[in-house]
Amino acid sequence: MVLCGAAGFLGSHLADRLLADGDRVTGIDNLATGSRANLATADNHPHFRFIEADVSLPWTWARDLDTPDLIAHFASPASPVDYGREPLATMAVNALGAMHGVELARATGARLLFASTSEVYGDPLEHPQPETYWGNVNPTGERACYDESKRYAEAYVTSAVRKLGIDARIVRIFNTYGPRMQPGDGRVIPNFCMAALRGEPLVIYGDGRQTRSFCYITDLIEGVVRLAKAQARSGSVVNIGNPDEFTIIDLAAIIAQIAGVPLKVVKAELPPDDPARRRPTIDLARSLLDWEPKVALRDGLVLTLEYFRGAAGASDVLASRI
Ligand SMILES: NC(=O)c1ccc[n+]([C@@H]2O[C@H](COP(=O)([O-])OP(=O)(O)OC[C@H]3O[C@@H](n4cnc5c(N)ncnc54)[C@H](O)[C@@H]3O)[C@@H](O)[C@H]2O)c1
Repeated sequence: MVLCGAAGFLGSHLADRLLADGDRVTGIDNLATGSRANLATADNHPHFRFIEADVSLPWTWARDLDTPDLIAHFASPASPVDYGREPLATMAVNALGAMHGVELARATGARLLFASTSEVYGDPLEHPQPETYWGNVNPTGERACYDESKRYAEAYVTSAVRKLGIDARIVRIFNTYGPRMQPGDGRVIPNFCMAALRGEPLVIYGDGRQTRSFCYITDLIEGVVRLAKAQARSGSVVNIGNPDEFTIIDLAAIIAQIAGVPLKVVKAELPPDDPARRRPTIDLARSLLDWEPKVALRDGLVLTLEYFRGAAGASDVLASRI
C-alpha cells in the first residue's frame, strides 16, 4: 500500500500497524511537518520503503511502484500553527494531493482512503456531529485553508467515486492525541503537557468552557484500519473519534493532576472561528466497522505525558517553532 504523510503523527502509527499486520508499505512524505524519527520502527521493517516527495507535485515516483491495493492519503499539516504558517501548501496538498491520489487509484484499481477532519463541520450548529451534518464553516477565515481544502477534497473524492467508479472512503478524524505529537504543534494537549512538565501556567483560550473530545492514537488507528479494509460502500464517509466530551478547563485539571503539579492557568483571547463544541456521533462506525474507542482520556493522557516527559530535546523543538 501507499501511505502519503507516513512520517507524521498519524501516518507513522498507521505504517507501524499495517506492517505488523503483514502489509507492504511505501511511505511518501516531504517532511514538512513530519519527521524521519517517527519512522524508526518502520525503517527497520523489511516491507517498508520510504520516498521523500511532495504529493502536491506530479507523482512521478508512482511509476516505480508495484501496483498498490490501497492508497491512504494522510499528508497535510493538521495543527493550526502548521497550517497557519503554510496556508497555500495546505490547500495544495488537500486539493492537488487528493487529485493525484484519485488518479493513482483510477490507474491501478487501488482503494483510496482519504483522511478528512472534524474541521469540515466548522463551528457546528448541530451537536453532536453526525456524518450527515453539512457544517458551519467560514470560507475566508484563518482556518479556511484547512477546513475548506478538506471539504474540497471530500467533494473531489466523492465526485470521482460517482464519475470514475473508483473505490474510495473518507474518514473524518476528530482530535487525536498520543506519542509522536510534536511538543510545539500548538494543539491543546501538547501545550498543556509541556507547560505542566515545565511547571508553567496552562494557557486557556477564552473561558475554557468550550468542549472537545479526544481520541487516543491506538483507538483511532484501529478505526482507520477497519474502514480501509471493510466491505463498505465506495464513497462512505465515517466519523472516527471519541464521543466523551470534556471542557478545556477539565482537561487542564486532569493533565496537571497526572503531572503532579498544582493547576495554574492564564487566560488568553479565543482565536477566530474556534469551535465552541465538538463531539462525534459514532453510530455509523459502530454499525459499519463494529468499532468504538476503548482508551479512557485519563489512561491515554498518562501515556502521552510519559512520552512528552521523555521526548529528548522537547523544549528545544518548542523554542525553535515559536
Ligand atoms: N491529528 C489529528 O487529531 C487529526 C485530526 C483530524 C484530521 N487529521 C488528518 O490526519 C492527517 C495526518 O495528521 P497528523 O496529525 O498526523 O499531522 P502531521 O503534521 O503529524 O502529519 C502530516 C504528514 O504529512 C506530511 N506532508 C504534509 N504536506 C505534504 C506534502 N505536500 N507532500 C508529502 N507529505 C506531506 C508531513 O510532513 C507530515 O509527515 C492529516 O490529513 C490531517 O488533516 C488529523
